[in-house]
Amino acid sequence: LQKFFNDKPLQGKKIIVTAGPTRERIDPVRFMTNFSTGKMGYAIADEAAAMGADVLLVTGPTALPVPAGVEVKRVESAADMLHAVLSRYDQVDAVIKTAAVADYRPKIMHSDKLKKRDGELTIELERTTDILRTLGEKKERQILIGFAAETKDVASYAKEKLQTKHLDMIVANDIKAEGAGFGTDTNIVTMYKRNGESIVLPLLPKVEVARHILHELKEMLEEER
Ligand code: CTP
Ligand code: CA
Repeated sequence: LQKFFNDKPLQGKKIIVTAGPTRERIDPVRFMTNFSTGKMGYAIADEAAAMGADVLLVTGPTALPVPAGVEVKRVESAADMLHAVLSRYDQVDAVIKTAAVADYRPKIMHSDKLKKRDGELTIELERTTDILRTLGEKKERQILIGFAAETKDVASYAKEKLQTKHLDMIVANDIKAEGAGFGTDTNIVTMYKRNGESIVLPLLPKVEVARHILHELKEMLEEER
């Protein structure tokens, strides 16, 4: 239907999409990460480009092919991702933060490989910067869309993140639900908007979820004007 009216509904819009996990180094051979594969973020980047947007995909390490017509910036850590996103933030109309960013990183990155010893090893962790919250604080006209990966109390945690990070919309998913979460080709999400609206989607291929998210983005971009 959308195609019938406008083939390129995001023509001329500049969008940053972040995807995948981050890696936080412990030493030259070890790191901390999570189960994100990047599929949801890559699907959004791909669809956004197909809808005419200029897309910068800032991605942590994934095994996925680069979507056609998308500019890619590869990053490793949460700190790298923060810098990559901030360096382009003032030039874009929207940021979609699909990436599963590490909340903690080792306090010390050892320059030599840690050698094993008898007994336990304790690795001290420190907080990373919350990228989305930083973007929310610096926000001018940009539309900010976040994700919330939850295992319980999905709606209340997601709505809290919508507020505290100053987002326009948050896409909540229960990663324990069948067909949702990491590594799957499908997802089950509910989108909560700043205006109080919530949109419940059924189990859908990630490509379809991407289209719904981008449809809402298009509407929010139009409201801004
Ligand atoms: N996020 C971010 N920078 C971080 C951590 C998270 O930008 N250092 C973003 C994610 O990309 C996502 C949103 O914040 O869009 C929510 O991430 P999530 O892990 O669900 O929430 P947190 O705020 O990190 O809270 P918690 O992990 O405790 O649930
Ligand atoms: Ca987190």
